[in-house]
Amino acid sequence: MSLDIVILAAGQGTRMRSALPKVLHPVAGDSMLGHVIHSARQLQPQGIHVVIGHGAELVRESLAADDLNFVLQDKQLGTGHAVAQALPELTADTVLILYGDVPLIEVDTLKRLLALVTPTQLGLLTVTLDDPTGYGRIVRDAQGKVTAIVEHKDANDAQKAIKEGNTGILAVPAARLADWLGRLSNNNAQGEYYLTDVIAMAVGDGLVVATEQPHDPMEVQGANDRRQLAELERHYQLREARRLMALGVTLRDPARFDVRGQVTVGRDVLIDINVILEGRVEIEDDVVIGPNCVIKDSILRKGVVIKANSHIEGAVLGEHSDAGPFARLRPGSVLEARAHVGNFVELKNAHLGEAAKVGHLTYLGDAEVGARTNIGAGTITCNYDGANKFKTVLGEDVFIGSNNSLVAPVDILAGATTAAGSTITQNVEAAQLAVGRARQRNIDGWKRPEKIKKS
Ligand code: UD1
Ligand code: CA
Repeated sequence: MSLDIVILAAGQGTRMRSALPKVLHPVAGDSMLGHVIHSARQLQPQGIHVVIGHGAELVRESLAADDLNFVLQDKQLGTGHAVAQALPELTADTVLILYGDVPLIEVDTLKRLLALVTPTQLGLLTVTLDDPTGYGRIVRDAQGKVTAIVEHKDANDAQKAIKEGNTGILAVPAARLADWLGRLSNNNAQGEYYLTDVIAMAVGDGLVVATEQPHDPMEVQGANDRRQLAELERHYQLREARRLMALGVTLRDPARFDVRGQVTVGRDVLIDINVILEGRVEIEDDVVIGPNCVIKDSILRKGVVIKANSHIEGAVLGEHSDAGPFARLRPGSVLEARAHVGNFVELKNAHLGEAAKVGHLTYLGDAEVGARTNIGAGTITCNYDGANKFKTVLGEDVFIGSNNSLVAPVDILAGATTAAGSTITQNVEAAQLAVGRARQRNIDGWKRPEKIKKS
């Protein structure tokens, strides 16, 4: 079976009250449309066609990718008209229709739906709801066979009483589609070309409409306003939390945990409250993450401990290394095994060798730190002269005294020591002590200044 996927994303989304096109509003750090595209890709279709209209340029720019074909629907004349715009691009034998504002649809549900499609059978995804207000209703005959979909605004009272609603997601044999779409009319309550009218046409042509339902109704929930957007967000987060718990993660509170990207986890991971994981985050076995941490695009090897209120981005933390509380690891931070970063330490493009220690109140930028080297409190690398950046290189077993300024470029070789309060501007040879501060003078009989009396 070859597959084309058409994603409808041209609608305006007035109720969002936003300058941003509706489908670009984010759920879990990605746009709603981005989520739909992500699911679509997992079905390995031969084409993904995104029908755009409102905010078309912005949507196209935001999501542009080689495997996406954007199709413009100039005027939003209805869902049937939208699919018709993509028709000339379709070449596969099955066409799956998705909505750009229904982001939580699961790949497994779509696979079940696609399994229904044959040259003589359509697959329609329906959902049974206590309150199906607004949904198209699934009309079945006495044998229970689907015969039509009636839009809410066109439905009579008996049809409105039907609880089975149309999700809008359907899969059809492509050979028939052009004919059906060509026969649509807009003679209905909304004056639109309804894609849903295809169902009655298919039945009239002798095809069967088979149905599937999602595992969870939230999979087919769209977001028309910010309240629904928030509901989708919470649902996504709970689903992600459950997935991670099933893999061996303890979450102190699944309701106070957010994933905004792709997370892989090992076993016996412990995550305290209010942790946000963004981008690609890899977490190995036995990692502990304290409360209120943001971790983005980083790798935490086995046994890493991140203490409360740390912000970690673009970093790799080696086995049993630790950071925080209040650590800030910026992109390019690498901690080898058992390296230690303590409170109020900022690292940027800095490599800490095995068991190196940076305990307190320090900034290391563009720095190479050898194994077991210890950096005293209040040390900074002066890596930037206002125009260019330079490197600080510290060998193994170096001891940097407290409150040093290391003026880059500078090399401090293995086993060297610097005195507290030093400003180090010259290289230090192996095992030397560098003292880069004014010698202390004690002045006898010193008189403090007195307050000047006002006349
Ligand atoms: C549609 C279905 C309805 C179903 C409901 C589920 C039709 C006629 N009705 O109704 O049976 O229960 O979805 O939410 O199909 N779009 C375009 N171009 C258009 C019109 C719509 O791209 O000209 C896109 C929208 O951006 C949206 C999707 O199609 O992503 C659905 O459109 P919407 O107007 O929300 O359809 P409903 O009236 O809710
Ligand atoms: Ca809708």
